[in-house]
Amino acid sequence: MDGPHALRGDYAAAAPDGTVPQRHARIPARDHATWRELMRRQAPLWERHAARAFRVGLATLGCEGGVPDFAVASARLQGATGWSLVGVPGLIPEGAFFAHLAARRFPVTVWIRTPEELDYLEEPDIFHDFAGHVPLLLEPAFADFLQAYGALGAEAEALGALRPLARLYWHMVEFGLIEEDGGLRAYGAGILSSAAETAHSITSAAPRRLRYDPRRVLRSDYRIDDLQPTYFVIRGHAELFETMRGLPALLECARDAAPIAPGAADPADMPF
Ligand SMILES: [Fe+2]
Repeated sequence: MDGPHALRGDYAAAAPDGTVPQRHARIPARDHATWRELMRRQAPLWERHAARAFRVGLATLGCEGGVPDFAVASARLQGATGWSLVGVPGLIPEGAFFAHLAARRFPVTVWIRTPEELDYLEEPDIFHDFAGHVPLLLEPAFADFLQAYGALGAEAEALGALRPLARLYWHMVEFGLIEEDGGLRAYGAGILSSAAETAHSITSAAPRRLRYDPRRVLRSDYRIDDLQPTYFVIRGHAELFETMRGLPALLECARDAAPIAPGAADPADMPF
C-alpha cells in the first residue's frame, strides 16, 4: 500500500485470520512513555465522565505503567468473561473481524501513535483499541452483546445489511453513552480514547442525545472525521444484549428504510 492514506501496520506479516504476534518484550521504551502520557492525560476525564463499568474494568486491568501485555490481559479476561485479545496490524477484513468477536477474541492493534499524535490519529492504535475497548470486555452483559454482534456478521452480509450492522457498532460500541445514577456517562471507545470527544459527548449542548432505540440506530449514518452530532443513551448494557434477539428482522427493515443523515432529527426521536 502507498500514498498519503496508506495504513501503517505490517499487513504482510499477518496470518490468514488477520492476526500478528504482539512481541511485548520488544516494545521500545518510547512507546511505553507514549502510553503512560496518554493514560495520564485521560485519567481525570475518565474519572469525571466514564461509565462505572469502564472505570472498574480499567482498574482491574491495571495498565497505567506501560503498553499492556496481551497475554496478561487475556488471562484476566478469560477468568472473568471468557474473552481474550489477539494482535492485529490495524483494521482487518470484516469477515475476520466478525469471526474473532463471535469467538470472544477482541482484535487489538499492536502499534502505538507517535508523541506528535497524542490528540488525533486517523486509524485506531493500541491506545484506542486497548484503553478504549478492553475494559468493557469485563462487563458481562456488554461482553455477551459483543459476541452476539460478531455472530450476526455472516447473516447481515447474506441479508445485504452490513451497513446497518456497522451503524450499531459505531453508535453503541464506539460512541455509546449510559445513564447512571440519574446522570450521563460515556462507555464508547471512540469517546473515551479522545479527550475532545469525552468532553463534547457529555458536557456540550451541541449534540443530540437520544434514548437508545435499535430501529433509530440502525438507520443513522455517521461522521468519521468530526465530533459526533448524535449520541444514543442506554439504561444498562443488558439493554444492548436484549436487542440482539430481534436484530435480524430489524436489520432487514433498516436495509430497506431511508438512512437518517448524521445529526438529523427524526419524528420518532426520544430525547434523553
Ligand atoms: Fe474502536
